[in-house]
Amino acid sequence: MNGAILYSGKYGSTAQYAHWIGEATGWAVFDVNDANYDLSEYDRLILGSSVMIFKLSIRNWVKTHWASIENKSIILFTVSGAAAGAKLDGWIADSLTESMLLKMQHVALRGRQHPKELSWWDRIILRIGAWKNDDPEAKKQELEGFDFMDKSSVDPILKLIQQQP
Ligand SMILES: Cc1cc2nc3c(=O)[nH]c(=O)nc-3n(C[C@H](O)[C@H](O)[C@H](O)COP(=O)(O)O)c2cc1C
Repeated sequence: MNGAILYSGKYGSTAQYAHWIGEATGWAVFDVNDANYDLSEYDRLILGSSVMIFKLSIRNWVKTHWASIENKSIILFTVSGAAAGAKLDGWIADSLTESMLLKMQHVALRGRQHPKELSWWDRIILRIGAWKNDDPEAKKQELEGFDFMDKSSVDPILKLIQQQP
């Protein structure tokens, strides 16, 4: 079966994870915005999405292309500052419909944020987020950045691929 990795991200961490999965599987890797892929060529998809302002950045792409992908085997990986848990699950549920999520397996990965690399607008958004955030750890991450990038974090995704029929 033929697979591809499609990702949506802004500052490179989602792309990095997508390429690590691509290296390990030999599958093609595409930015969803590049549009130089033909979805009909693939039976299996890995969708990678950054989490920005409590939403999955890939949500509109999934909704637009759902009719072409709903019968494929889909693994979704999210890339966020927050760790796996109820908060992240809530943001995912706000981004995609329940019936979409029922057809995907999900793996949560943690990304990277360096304040100096951000656009001025994104920096302002994170400062406002930090000001409103009651969680001291999340507040610190929003203001000072973080780097959780680690190649071995994609191992659970590689395992899921191996387990698929
Ligand atoms: C403007 C902005 C908003 C963000 N919002 C969230 C959020 O709501 N929840 C979260 O866990 N992480 C959030 N993050 C952290 C990103 O998910 C993290 O930096 C991720 O690695 C970005 O992926 P990318 O490098 O592919 O763009 C935000 C980052 C930025 C810059």
